[in-house]
Amino acid sequence: MIVTKLTSLYQEFEGDLEVKRMLLTNEMNYEIFQNHFDMLEIRPGMNIMDFGCGPGISTRDLARRANPGMVFGIDIKFSAIETAASISKKEGIHNVQFAKMDASKVQVHDDTFHITFARNLLMSVPRPQKVLKEMLRVTRPGGLIAIISSDGFMSNIYPLNKELKNHLEILQNNQPSNIHMGRELYSRLSKLGLVNIQVHIDNFISKGPATQQEIEYWTLMYQQIEPIADKIFGGLDKFNQDREIWFNFLQKEDRFDYFQIFCVTGRKPR
Ligand SMILES: C[S@@+](CC[C@H](N)C(=O)[O-])C[C@H]1O[C@@H](n2cnc3c(N)ncnc32)[C@H](O)[C@@H]1O
Repeated sequence: MIVTKLTSLYQEFEGDLEVKRMLLTNEMNYEIFQNHFDMLEIRPGMNIMDFGCGPGISTRDLARRANPGMVFGIDIKFSAIETAASISKKEGIHNVQFAKMDASKVQVHDDTFHITFARNLLMSVPRPQKVLKEMLRVTRPGGLIAIISSDGFMSNIYPLNKELKNHLEILQNNQPSNIHMGRELYSRLSKLGLVNIQVHIDNFISKGPATQQEIEYWTLMYQQIEPIADKIFGGLDKFNQDREIWFNFLQKEDRFDYFQIFCVTGRKPR
């Protein structure tokens, strides 16, 4: 079951699969993500920009730590911004602002923020280096740029049989995001000209029969794929068969699945 304080929020967003999946992602990686915020050494009064903030889960965590500093969350989806603003209001967090903007072209002055932050964004934008350049532009000289991205999602799995391998290949070939963004970050931040680049890597490990929370996560994931089942699987029957293959794997006693979560930071030269 969902165990932490987000339980009531989760029930509230019954109809919104994407928000529910992001809330669950936060639950499943809670300690890792809190550790990332600790590493950023956020001090009260700092101003922060959260690129691709989604429903504002990361924005609110940043805001609690930066208070009375302001945290500015932007997302390309208006619905995400609306959700982020409404949850923040309900939770009584006032040092946040949200706006609909494209992360590769933000309407913000140069050298504005002490910290610019992007979690699970770069892997799904067509031109990640353009987003990084925008992050650099709006960060103050000496300020911190912090990127969190996973690496190897759904690709380090054992034991694999032919059907499972085939299913994973279909998913990977139709994957809109770069599942290996984590390993690219050091090179990308170096090319950007950042100094004092730090790389921290955590392992997300899932073993044995999946927990109820993990089953819920994968149920949401496949619900989100279902509307495009024709395009990816060539029909609903094949999609249902393949989903069954994945859910059978989730029940296995000897199942092992892992991926890495990278937190890479660097400073804008003074
Ligand atoms: C996986 S979610 C991560 C949300 C949040 N950062 C978190 O960690 O909880 C990625 C978000 O990036 C947003 N996004 C994708 N492309 C974007 C772009 N070009 N500019 C701004 N936001 C974008 C999506 O709408 C989505 O809300």
